[in-house]
Amino acid sequence: MFDVYKIRKDFPILDRLIDGKRNVYLDTAASAQKPLAMLDRINNFYRDEYANVHRGSYYLSELATEAYEHARLTVKNFINARKPAEIIFTRSATEGINLVAATYGASILQNGDEVLLSRAEHHANLVTWQQWAKKTSASLKYFDLNADGSFSKENFESALSERTKIIAVTAMSNVLGTIFPIKEICKKAHSIGAKVLVDACQYAVHKKIDVQDFDCDFLAFSGHKVYGPTGIGVLYGKYDLLAQMPPYQYGGDMIEHVSFEETTFAMPPARFEAGTPAIAQAVGLAASLQYLMQFDFSAIEAYEAELTRYMSREMLNVNGLKIVGNIPDKGGVCSFSIQDIHPQDLAFVLGKEGVAVRTGHFCAEPLVNLLGYTSLARASLGIYSTKEDVDDFIKALYKAKSFFE
Ligand code: ALA
Repeated sequence: MFDVYKIRKDFPILDRLIDGKRNVYLDTAASAQKPLAMLDRINNFYRDEYANVHRGSYYLSELATEAYEHARLTVKNFINARKPAEIIFTRSATEGINLVAATYGASILQNGDEVLLSRAEHHANLVTWQQWAKKTSASLKYFDLNADGSFSKENFESALSERTKIIAVTAMSNVLGTIFPIKEICKKAHSIGAKVLVDACQYAVHKKIDVQDFDCDFLAFSGHKVYGPTGIGVLYGKYDLLAQMPPYQYGGDMIEHVSFEETTFAMPPARFEAGTPAIAQAVGLAASLQYLMQFDFSAIEAYEAELTRYMSREMLNVNGLKIVGNIPDKGGVCSFSIQDIHPQDLAFVLGKEGVAVRTGHFCAEPLVNLLGYTSLARASLGIYSTKEDVDDFIKALYKAKSFFE
């Protein structure tokens, strides 16, 4: 049974007063708050089990290696990969996408090939492919969404060509909340011989990922957005693809044999994890994912969908407020503007009321500009968000409005 008030007790920071005000945290899309299960696990790991991994044959190193590899197994289960070796721990989702572009992308892309993105990509996906398209002389193409912010099958399909080699798309827009039909995108991509990389940073927080069902070739998400630690991300790749890819970085733990002249490299995942990895962060991420997996994902989805609808309705009652991407069945983000009030000023007043929202272009500057803005405000929901949070947010919005009018 999904009980949000019980869940909130698992997130100690939500009980903290912010300048004497209730903590109304509506910025989960930027970074999620952390459950005790994760905080305790990291603490215990450093206290009782810590050593470097894959290097020592002494007891603590074996314990740490076991915890680190168990974290890989947990991620494998979380996204339903075929085997743990398909899971690469990275510093962030950004690093995972960079890894694919710099290894797979750089080795297959040639002059005239096309990389296809949606107009809704955030910088981690957009800038990375933009720069690697330039480096490889491939062309970068974008497909448009519908005017209401929803995915357009027609626009997507008409942007494909026999030169499309890589399609890099978000599974959920961090600005509009649009959910992309990843399974259909992969099917279409594969029918023309293209590979698909999924940016699942936002999707992973709200919806169940099943990489086998998606049939995506690569998928990346970050730890800190799924209630896990900062400094860790996950890259999933189909094993056969990973096995063909050259290393991304060089150093310890990614090698098979080294001489003064030559090096042979380990098989994945080790090939892509040069140096001492983010051990405690991986262990903490596993604790967060285990925490999440105790819930039925469809219950999380249903709860958040209802709360998103409630929040949208209440927001639209505020005179002059406009939500961008107010489409049905979107994920739990509402990006908005209120007439002439600058989002930064608005967020400042909301902040004084204990309400945290993000402002700016949300690391998706081209999309925000395309929508006709230089800056927006955004309220986003997580597993711990409540109707009371929304009500306090709306009250603060009215207060801000009267302040600026
Ligand atoms: N972290 C960025 C956001 O807030 C991408 O959406």
